Amino acid sequence: MTNRWLANTGGTRGPEYAERFRKLAAQGQDMHGEARFCHDLLPAPARVLDAGCGTGRVAIELARQGHEVVGVDLDASMLAEARAAAPGLTWVLDDLADLDPHPLGGRRSFDLVVAAGNVMIFLADGTEAEVVAGLARMLRPGGILVAGFSLAGGPGGVGATLDADAYDAACTAAGLTRRSRYAGWGREAWVDGGDYLVAVHAAPPR
Ligand SMILES: C[S@@+](CC[C@H](N)C(=O)[O-])C[C@H]1O[C@@H](n2cnc3c(N)ncnc32)[C@H](O)[C@@H]1O
Repeated sequence: MTNRWLANTGGTRGPEYAERFRKLAAQGQDMHGEARFCHDLLPAPARVLDAGCGTGRVAIELARQGHEVVGVDLDASMLAEARAAAPGLTWVLDDLADLDPHPLGGRRSFDLVVAAGNVMIFLADGTEAEVVAGLARMLRPGGILVAGFSLAGGPGGVGATLDADAYDAACTAAGLTRRSRYAGWGREAWVDGGDYLVAVHAAPPR
């Protein structure tokens, strides 16, 4: 089990990642655009899977807003920060490319799945479509998949091969229908050729 995140960070980034966001928050920066975006799509209480939850930044804020959240990630150092910050929430160590639905509450049990903060470009190369298919299986009928990632890639261009249409095609293949595309978590208008994508797809109603 590995991915481009672990290959780039060595699986030790958790404390540094958490500290970076603590500092930004202390400087008054808004850390919760992703959570707000999801909360605006579905009023609480919704069942939310934070896929690639990292240190729990998005999941913890959604729980604070009254949602029932489960976080899953493959990096134990990131999950340790999430557990320390919110010991009462459910945090699961697993690979999105081969997700075991049982510890998460079973298939088709989530109203919303969110993959925020570049998760899609840090997956193992070539697993994007199977990850999207696995996440789609976690959605209840009519449930929503939200993903946001850089189209210019991450540090050093990692993951720059995933473009908006390829992501869309993976969603279509997984049986999802696109609802909307934005250029950012503030619902900035989507423009072809932009460098960030926030995409919303829905599972069939039945
Ligand atoms: C940049 S961090 C974002 C963390 C969090 N979503 C946030 O927005 O703060 C990307 C995360 O994706 C996770 N990730 C990447 N590929 C994964 C996979 N195949 N299975 C589980 N987690 C994965 C990494 O472990 C890492 O924690």
